[in-house]
Amino acid sequence: MLIVSTVPELHRALADHRAVGRSVGFVPTMGFLHEGHLSLVRRARQENGAVVVSIFVNPAQFAPTEDLDRYPRDVERDSALCRAEGCDILFVPKPEEMYPDGFSTYVSVEGLSSRLEGTFRPTHFRGVATVVLKLFLLVRPDRAYFGQKDAQQCAVIAAMVRDLAVPVRLVVVPTVRESDGLAMSSRNVYLSPDERKRAPVLYRALSRAAERIAAGERDAARLSAGITAAIMEQSPSAVDYAAVVDPLTLEPVDALAPGSDVLIPVAVRFGTTRLIDNIIVRVP
Ligand code: PAJ
Repeated sequence: MLIVSTVPELHRALADHRAVGRSVGFVPTMGFLHEGHLSLVRRARQENGAVVVSIFVNPAQFAPTEDLDRYPRDVERDSALCRAEGCDILFVPKPEEMYPDGFSTYVSVEGLSSRLEGTFRPTHFRGVATVVLKLFLLVRPDRAYFGQKDAQQCAVIAAMVRDLAVPVRLVVVPTVRESDGLAMSSRNVYLSPDERKRAPVLYRALSRAAERIAAGERDAARLSAGITAAIMEQSPSAVDYAAVVDPLTLEPVDALAPGSDVLIPVAVRFGTTRLIDNIIVRVP
């Protein structure tokens, strides 16, 4: 595995794979890798001749009040994990490589970016879309891999790829969870032992909502109220949202239509740590 930090080095490393006709699978990350990230790398490994992983804690997607400075980092451990999964190129650019002096072009996916997470993080998806498009242009992957865990991110990137005719195939990989159901996240290390014990309530509440849909519940307001109530029992500092929405447009659904898919996303704060999770349910 080659570890590169500049664009010319990245292009040289890619040229060797392209020269022999290998397809390129790309997994963008912010590092501090866990099994969720690694499931993306494994899928990319199965489906491509060459695998590129990037690690870049993207300043543009953090608001000034957010955790950019304390975001967990461990590039040495990450590179050992990537090597073990058969990654070919690990791209670890410095902020100046991605955002050189004078950088002034941003991509905003309107509408989708201001719903759900966008209400609480108004500039977040502009930062995500900008860095992901730039990474796509640098790596020029055949396929790029994203986790269902960040369902809104998947919807925003899919819209950007469609709207700007970006030549890449997006692959969405299921959420990997701890044995108690908590979705894996680099931010889980922020949880105190007590918060960690309460955090599995997100997935429990989502699973309960899926059971209620299976049992015939079709009212979105009742479902979201049930999820919020179940989560509140574990005394978080706030439930930012628990919603029932269309998986592609993220528009709220009122009555669940038989045969449709609904996305049920939640965002909860335990102390200063914000956790998100979601499930997609096919309405019988
Ligand atoms: P990061 O949070 O590091 O996540 C990188 C990728 O791993 C994302 O596609 C995310 O959805 C996926 N992922 C995270 N936890 C997962 C889990 N438990 N199961 C499955 N997949 C999981 O998302 C970002 O970084 C950034 O916004 C990025 C796309 C790299 C742009 O900066």
